[in-house]
Amino acid sequence: MSKYNEVFNRSISDPEGFWAEAAEGITWHRRWDKVLDSSNAPIYRWFAGGELNTCYNALDRHVEAGRGDQTALIYDSPVTKKIKKFTYKEIQKEVALFAGALRGLGLSKGDTCIIYMPMIPQAVVAMLACARLGAVHSVVFGGFAPHELAIRIDDAKPKVIISASSAIEVTRLIEYKPLLDKAIELANHKPQKCVIFQREEVRATLNEGRDHDWAELISKSIPAECVPVKATDPLYILYTSGTTGIPKGVVRDNGGHAVALHWSMKNIYDTQHGDVFWAASDVGWVVGHSYIVYAPLIAGCTTVLYEGKSVGTPDPGAFWRVISQHGIKTLFTAPTALRAIKKEDPNGDYIKKYDLSDFKYLFLAGERTDPDTYFWAKNLLNKPVIDHWWQTETGWPITANCIGIEMMPVKAGSSTKPVPGYDVKVLDSDGKEVQPGKEGVIAIKLPLPPGTLPTLWNADERFIKSYMDIFKGYYFTSDGGYIDEDGYVFIMGRVDDVINVAGHRLSTGEMEEIVATHPKVAECAVIGAADSLKGQLPVGLVVLKSGVDGDIEQIKAELVKMVRGQIGPIACFKSVAVVNRLPKTRSGKILRGTMRKIADSEEYRPPSTIDDPAALTEIETALREIGYAKKQS
Ligand code: COA
Ligand code: AMP
Repeated sequence: MSKYNEVFNRSISDPEGFWAEAAEGITWHRRWDKVLDSSNAPIYRWFAGGELNTCYNALDRHVEAGRGDQTALIYDSPVTKKIKKFTYKEIQKEVALFAGALRGLGLSKGDTCIIYMPMIPQAVVAMLACARLGAVHSVVFGGFAPHELAIRIDDAKPKVIISASSAIEVTRLIEYKPLLDKAIELANHKPQKCVIFQREEVRATLNEGRDHDWAELISKSIPAECVPVKATDPLYILYTSGTTGIPKGVVRDNGGHAVALHWSMKNIYDTQHGDVFWAASDVGWVVGHSYIVYAPLIAGCTTVLYEGKSVGTPDPGAFWRVISQHGIKTLFTAPTALRAIKKEDPNGDYIKKYDLSDFKYLFLAGERTDPDTYFWAKNLLNKPVIDHWWQTETGWPITANCIGIEMMPVKAGSSTKPVPGYDVKVLDSDGKEVQPGKEGVIAIKLPLPPGTLPTLWNADERFIKSYMDIFKGYYFTSDGGYIDEDGYVFIMGRVDDVINVAGHRLSTGEMEEIVATHPKVAECAVIGAADSLKGQLPVGLVVLKSGVDGDIEQIKAELVKMVRGQIGPIACFKSVAVVNRLPKTRSGKILRGTMRKIADSEEYRPPSTIDDPAALTEIETALREIGYAKKQS
């Protein structure tokens, strides 16, 4: 039997024994009473009764073990032309001081704290400082607009919000403080305190009484020690798009999370302490939480915080420069970032400029790696390129080539096999397992392994309804795909209204809700159409109220502005077509799937229940006018 099969089978037949062994990699304040508490299934709890501190595991224990002088964090910022390195000792000191400052503002164990920051070291310090106090952080990605931030403030009810004066998007300075002020104004819940890190590029005006200057607080702070918390206590909440305008607050616990991430570094990524690991993501996304901050530090590696893009900062050689300059062994990024490089440097001329001898593996996730991008990267880099599939909900990969266990042959288009702990199945609409090679919806047999979401923040019922009730005994992933004869998993895309734009997960349902509020719009649909750079882009199809006349281009521009204003620039909502009617079934269901196929020039067969087949022709014409549906059907 292969090593992978042996490890995988054990994880499924004896999950408690398997994860109890993995838990030895973590330093516990108190050992657990029960490895897996299933008494409240489908809400499972890992390491019940155990106590630990995640920040202690990420920092203090390495300092105590004599590795305090090892570099913990490299901040590489082409947009400010700065590079700064922090040893474990230095970052521990910064975190302890900032935790002391937060404690001074009244933040303590169990309180919530929102972090709305660009990719600067203080974002990592803020996350770890919350973890040190046992407070629950919720990082909100900087590309979200005040309205989105306000929704998260109202749900998480933070005592404190931590932010910075600005972000730098390539060359553009984006002031965060006005966005934060607007969000607090929009929210019903008002945080007691805000802490603002003043960047050199711009200083924010502070609101007397509510806002505090980061540097000033630190100068008076008394360092805080790590506060032990229960393994089952929440470490963070991370909001992610669902099918409606109300995002889901994915909860991550402390114990299972630390165990799973520590295990993953060695077994999935073949990474040991001292290795330099770079996840080129953002701390606002799950990849950033898990593989910029927690996993590399818990495993005692050097992590890289990169404030830049794959192109334009300054050129398509940016990633290769960072890899060679910092001796990076593993890069983890999204296929879209590679497609952006490929577009500007198709022959890999920039790759040849750098010494990539320390570089061993390229991991990709966030969206399916299309075979074109896979072969481009593999052939030019001459390194293993590994696609792995995961979700905000799971927090770490569900399927991967677990190279730390055994490197399996790669099949382009597949994210290889289930990671130990994940019993992945493909089901038909009745919940029956399908034959190899046949497409269906992907579900994971319960229990999920440690580190995955135990529930949604203050929403157990929504958690059960969204994930656990669809097929009893399974977690419903909302992804479709198939498993081939060799057990390789192929993820083909979401089966719900969630789309993936440049590796960012967005809800078309939410965009529809916003577009529908325009006074001249009668009804609308937003679909995700294929895009050669960003994977997908949202496209709005809009029916105007009867009698509306006036400038159609003006209305379209207003709709674009509304979505950008409410969700943020990250929504990339730029295409709108105005039509006389939307294609529907006789029962009134809008045929979004069919419209998506038309936009992508895929073959489609109108459902027999279609109300008015002529509506499809009209959609095709309208989509063609805005650059989609290019092939004549
Ligand atoms: N704060 C404010 N605005 C932001 C932002 C932030 N943190 N991040 C992005 N934006 C803005 C951008 O400036 C852009 O605005 P624009 O419409 O005015 O130009 C918009 O949001 C879209 O940004 P993005 O999708 O990043 O597009 P881009 O054209 O600037 O860059 C890529 C294209 C492919 C280079 C980039 O999307 C990328 O690297 N994606 C990888 C994503 C990733 O790593 N995801 C994590 C999953 S592992
Ligand atoms: P997020 O929660 O933002 O990480 O997005 C999760 C979604 O991204 C998944 O449900 C998939 O649809 C998609 N996704 C992530 N990684 C992959 C991958 N390697 N292959 C295919 N789809 C992926």
